[in-house]
Amino acid sequence: MKKEWLPFSRPSVGPEEIQAVVDTLSAGWLTTGPRTKEFEAGIARYIGCRNVVAMNSCTAALHLALEAIGLRAGDAVITTPMTFAATAETIRYFNAHPILVDVDRRTLNIDPGKIEERLRSRAGRARRDRIKAIIPVHYAGYPCDMDKIMSIANAHELTVVEDAAHAFPAVYKGTVVGNIGHITCFSFYATKNITTGEGGAAVTGNDEWADRMRIMSLHGISRDAWKRYTSEGSWYYEIAAPGFKYNLTDVAAALGIVQLRRSDEFWARRSGIARRYTDAFRSLDEVETPFGEGIDDTIGAPGEPLQWKDIAGTRHSWHLYILRLVLGKLEIDRDKFIDELKQLGIGTSVHFIPLHIHPYYRETYGYKPGDYPISHGEYQRIVSLPIYPRMSDADVDRVIEAVKDVVHRHRKRKSLRKPKSPRNVSTRTRRRQ
Ligand SMILES: Cc1ncc(COP(=O)(O)O)c(C=O)c1O
Repeated sequence: MKKEWLPFSRPSVGPEEIQAVVDTLSAGWLTTGPRTKEFEAGIARYIGCRNVVAMNSCTAALHLALEAIGLRAGDAVITTPMTFAATAETIRYFNAHPILVDVDRRTLNIDPGKIEERLRSRAGRARRDRIKAIIPVHYAGYPCDMDKIMSIANAHELTVVEDAAHAFPAVYKGTVVGNIGHITCFSFYATKNITTGEGGAAVTGNDEWADRMRIMSLHGISRDAWKRYTSEGSWYYEIAAPGFKYNLTDVAAALGIVQLRRSDEFWARRSGIARRYTDAFRSLDEVETPFGEGIDDTIGAPGEPLQWKDIAGTRHSWHLYILRLVLGKLEIDRDKFIDELKQLGIGTSVHFIPLHIHPYYRETYGYKPGDYPISHGEYQRIVSLPIYPRMSDADVDRVIEAVKDVVHRHRKRKSLRKPKSPRNVSTRTRRRQ
């Protein structure tokens, strides 16, 4: 009998969010306006940053961040293969090129040592003046090694645009993500830690870049184009550049304002689920829990009230909980493992199919799977488990039981046969001995 389906992700949208959206619809201002401004101000307060430009996706934010820093055709940007399509496609929008650098096996974040190696390599030196930026991706919500990345960027005069689609909220060595790189891009897509349905934001300490992104997010029209239909605005506008239509709507922002208020509560619940998974799976030899090093520190003590902003250390956002299979100890591969969980009614996913094995990047840049051995190897053994605040304790128990059940049924049994005794060895072999 098929079990009730537990989806991989489900947004936490309650009566408050619904009321806020209804109020906005009733107020009659649907597109970018006062709710969007309020949402931007809320994000600025929450992460403690100077400028926030809300947009309709993180993809839009990445695109306009690269536009603001002046990326040109033929330039190159260093990034990771272990990411979603958006990170590299936005580089390609400019006819610029992603330079992929493999990840650190422990965190699956871009490996700063390999960035350095790449910059110092003959190919890196030859293209040195075309390499303009680094896009680190805080994979699953665990911050990259930003000290090293910023120091490499400073030494080589590169701009750092963080892809923090997974990292709202996260803390790196006591600094909230959004205050480290030159521009940081967040996602508020339906599965993310807080959502506006579709949405994103670019944050930066640089006023000039913030202005440029704001203008380019609404047709390249001069300042505060959205106000032109208000009593404060004017019909007159000027087009400063051929911009884009990337503005966030007030309907979406109304949802975001309430989600932002609930962000700490969401984060505490995600951390609690991560802790329960790690406690349950740690003793299994057939799987590995996320990141090994520092995991206990990032989850917090049981029962401890979690205050993400007061953290002196590094905190995971727990956007994703990625289990790694020890394939040598299982009789099944990752795909079959996922099928088995599906049979038990558990939705899962895989983050990510590394960029370099997708047809477009393979064909455009001639990549082979082995070019990024860590990304490729780890890809074959990762499974993202459900982790979201709406999961009940019983849902979490179900996932734990299902994983244990699949592991127990498919773990490699040690051979029960005894090693061959000399009496079993054939006469021919014995004669030769
Ligand atoms: C690492 C990463 N970057 C960027 C994005 C794009 O976000 P959005 O859907 O808000 O454009 C995603 C989306 O899931 C992502 O996982």
